[in-house]
Amino acid sequence: MDPLNSARVLLGVSGGIAAYKAAALTSTLVQSGATVDVIMTAAAERFITPLTFSSLTARPVYTSLWDAPERIPHIRLVREAQVFIVAPASANVIAKIATGIADDLLTTALLASRIPIVVAPAMNSAMYERSETKRNIDALRERGIEIVEPESGFLAEREIGQGRLASEERLLDAIRRSLARTRQLQGKRVLVTAGPTVEALDPVRHFSNPSTGAMGIALAREAAQRGADVTLILGPTLLAPPPNVRTVAVKEAREMYEATMREVPADLVIAAAAVSDWRPAERFDQKLPKGSKDLNVRMVRNPDVLQALGDRKDGAFLVGFAAETESHQAHASEKLRKKNLDAIALNDVSGERGFGLQESSLTLLWRDGGELNLGSGAKEMLAARLLDAIGPRLNEDADAARD
Ligand code: CTP
Repeated sequence: MDPLNSARVLLGVSGGIAAYKAAALTSTLVQSGATVDVIMTAAAERFITPLTFSSLTARPVYTSLWDAPERIPHIRLVREAQVFIVAPASANVIAKIATGIADDLLTTALLASRIPIVVAPAMNSAMYERSETKRNIDALRERGIEIVEPESGFLAEREIGQGRLASEERLLDAIRRSLARTRQLQGKRVLVTAGPTVEALDPVRHFSNPSTGAMGIALAREAAQRGADVTLILGPTLLAPPPNVRTVAVKEAREMYEATMREVPADLVIAAAAVSDWRPAERFDQKLPKGSKDLNVRMVRNPDVLQALGDRKDGAFLVGFAAETESHQAHASEKLRKKNLDAIALNDVSGERGFGLQESSLTLLWRDGGELNLGSGAKEMLAARLLDAIGPRLNEDADAARD
């Protein structure tokens, strides 16, 4: 079945001569069985009227944050839709998305959106080629937004250049891809461990590590966006967990172990937590006076959450993380084998790179020996690429189990 059939599409139309092509796109979407809501910017209304879109969709068209009687249409519209496409996207709208400006209904809805976003730029080639625009488009890409590049050809200014809105076929392909993404993990139970663990010595001192949990939180959010039922087991962090995910807050490794064991079985487990390998053998109820002597603390091993899951291997697709400072591939492959995993994401933390940075770089090593470089960039983007890679394997495994 065509994924467009019965899909909920939100279409943002910004100012540009290509706005008329958005009407043709709307018509095709409606004929394919999609329900389309349209948001127009004030500039778009200079090129084409809301009546065109409301006639095509048989639904109201939204042009202002202040349309009576609804107070907050931007939140409802992005919650009801499965995919958000902006076509045509002007240089101005792209710049606003890149910097988080929300000064009209379209940009406010984009900022509030947690659904996949597709952006199809259309502008004069001089504007498209500017370094500012290129930088803004790259910023969108890094955030996981799909860009449908404009085409070369005859522009409104009666000159030839790159800036024409992509063909309808390419726009529809991008919408179909995003819809498939939103359904990729539907019906799957996903468990993610994230963050550091904190091992107390006394009421005011502890052992921990600099993990922020950002990678695991990004993975949990992305999995939920793809339709999964997600549980996030999260060590202490200042970052907020995603709202559409069930979060279990833990402190120590032993709590993380117990919480994880309570939550399995799952279809996919991603262990992104930086679990403290040791804890103080003795934990003092009162603050230790510092005195004048050195302190020797005996540390004992913590349970290995992922090892325990690998040992019981009850049908879940198991993904581990390996943060390595040297002999990266060899160490990661060894962990993959030892912990009985299906894949391991190798994260190079040598030199300047390390925990807690907004950016990271990952390579995925598969159980069967293959590897996939996921590149480097924002953790949100890496989370999306990681699930792009793992999703099909998960479904392969489920298919094989049914045969
Ligand atoms: N892990 C875990 N429980 C632990 C330690 C690690 O679940 N007590 C998981 C991590 O979440 C990660 C993977 O195991 O997915 C690899 O962790 P890492 O600390 O890099 O590997 P170790 O096996 O602990 O090896 P080493 O510390 O010797 O490098």
